[in-house]
Amino acid sequence: MFLWQYLTPLLLIAVQICKGQQCDEFTDLNLGHAFIGTNIRIRLLLYTRENSTCGTLLSHTDLSDYPQFSLSKTTTFIVHGYRPTGSPPAWVNDMTELLLARDDMNIIVVDWNYGATNLNYLKAVENTKKAAANLTAFIEMMQDQGASLSSIHMIGVSLGAHISGFVGANLKGLIGRITALDPAGPQFKGTSKEDRLDSTNAQFVDVLHTDIDALGFREPLGHIDFYANGGTDQPGCPKTIFSGGSYFKCDHQRSVFLYLDSLNRTCVSRAFPCSSYKDFLDGNCLDCDEFGAAGCPVFGYDVTKWRNILLKLGQTKTFFTTNPKSPFCMTGYRVDVMIWNKESRWGYITIKLHYNGTEALATINHKSAKFMRYTETHLFAQFDKDVQSVEKVSVKFSTGNIFKPKYKLRVLQLRLTHLEHKERSLCRYDIILKADTEVTFRPIPCEGSNF
Ligand SMILES: *[C@@H]1O[C@H](CO)[C@@H](O)[C@H](O)[C@H]1NC(C)=O
Ligand SMILES: *[C@@H]1O[C@H](CO)[C@@H](O)[C@H](O)[C@H]1NC(C)=O
Ligand SMILES: *[C@@H]1O[C@H](CO)[C@@H](O)[C@H](O)[C@H]1NC(C)=O
Ligand SMILES: *[C@@H]1O[C@H](CO)[C@@H](O)[C@H](O)[C@H]1NC(C)=O
Repeated sequence: MFLWQYLTPLLLIAVQICKGQQCDEFTDLNLGHAFIGTNIRIRLLLYTRENSTCGTLLSHTDLSDYPQFSLSKTTTFIVHGYRPTGSPPAWVNDMTELLLARDDMNIIVVDWNYGATNLNYLKAVENTKKAAANLTAFIEMMQDQGASLSSIHMIGVSLGAHISGFVGANLKGLIGRITALDPAGPQFKGTSKEDRLDSTNAQFVDVLHTDIDALGFREPLGHIDFYANGGTDQPGCPKTIFSGGSYFKCDHQRSVFLYLDSLNRTCVSRAFPCSSYKDFLDGNCLDCDEFGAAGCPVFGYDVTKWRNILLKLGQTKTFFTTNPKSPFCMTGYRVDVMIWNKESRWGYITIKLHYNGTEALATINHKSAKFMRYTETHLFAQFDKDVQSVEKVSVKFSTGNIFKPKYKLRVLQLRLTHLEHKERSLCRYDIILKADTEVTFRPIPCEGSNF
């Protein structure tokens, strides 16, 4: 055991020398370190397009040895969070490669694994200000060598989001951008803005929330705050402690995977400004006129396209929903239903869109909708995929109550409007939806659209 502990690093070094290229790796610790606790030590690993998979350990005092580190380019710092087990973050290489595929920049992976690895979370929290002081000194040195603070982007995960905030505060809010991925809540909520991330910490601060009821931070902290699936429970994550080990961190970690999808341009998640998730699900926040031709902001790396208007607005809280796994984005439709039943009806609608053997599904069941005679009921349907050209539509109405008589919904008009491509609107007139019975039909173009 002891021998191995010393031999393994030696072997690794030997292997690297044989390969002829020496790459520096993120510190790999284990539970033993977490038990004993670790003191803070900060390693900065540089990645550039010269080799996006091979890190170079940077000196904290002298940059003359790294010709590939060009201070006229953007420098993106990736700052991880708490590491209760000491293992390197599994996503950090993907993030580095995807960022470099997007833009020619310097990436500095901030390895503060010594400092973040501790069974006692409070000790890791204590280290955040120390880590920030250390990074501030490094960035000031970059500045002395000619880098501009506007060219600095910090991407911080969990505790790393607050570290990024502290660095920004130390530098008077002049760094270009902070992206916070589910900023940590415990020990930070309720503190004053000096003791947590704040929108004054950088010229532009974008924040994603995925676990506001446990490990994340509930309140908005940036110029734009994205609440994925309302920010609490992420689809596909275990709902109870009995469903597996990822129960504690699945929602929290989802923030990173959503960001990776955005970097990879897997698909587009439009985020809608709204005061609450409930209002958003009710379809009350689908108006994007205040953003002009650009439409509502898109979650992720490219939200800088909305930067000027978001800065003008000050603080914008937005919502979007996701699938349980990548590709995470969903496709929104507005659904307008008008019935001619004499009596009002309450119930849920499930819609399927079919094209060439693929099927997209939306279930609108967050609350029972009310349908009234000759009145348009507006619903917001979110499909798990985008069907390019809809051949057939299936609709099911259910009351959600097996003891109720089997109502019929006598639909005068049903209209589906694609939120991204309003011209793709589909209609159907005069159908009868018997409760719990799926009806499939070919949609037709809508007549005399009133919006
Ligand atoms: C930052 O941390 C590194 C390693 O932990 C250390 O060598 C360096 O001197 C620190 N810089 C400052 C300004 O404290
Ligand atoms: C980048 O580094 C990796 C790991 O050392 C090495 O296998 C690969 O050949 C390098 N690629 C280039 C283009 O130098
Ligand atoms: C990026 O997307 C491609 C497919 O478009 C996928 O094969 C790849 O695994 C993705 N990469 C990451 C890191 O998510
Ligand atoms: C329809 O699906 C089949 C098999 O999934 C595929 O080979 C074909 O190209 C698709 N046609 C169109 C028009 O997308």
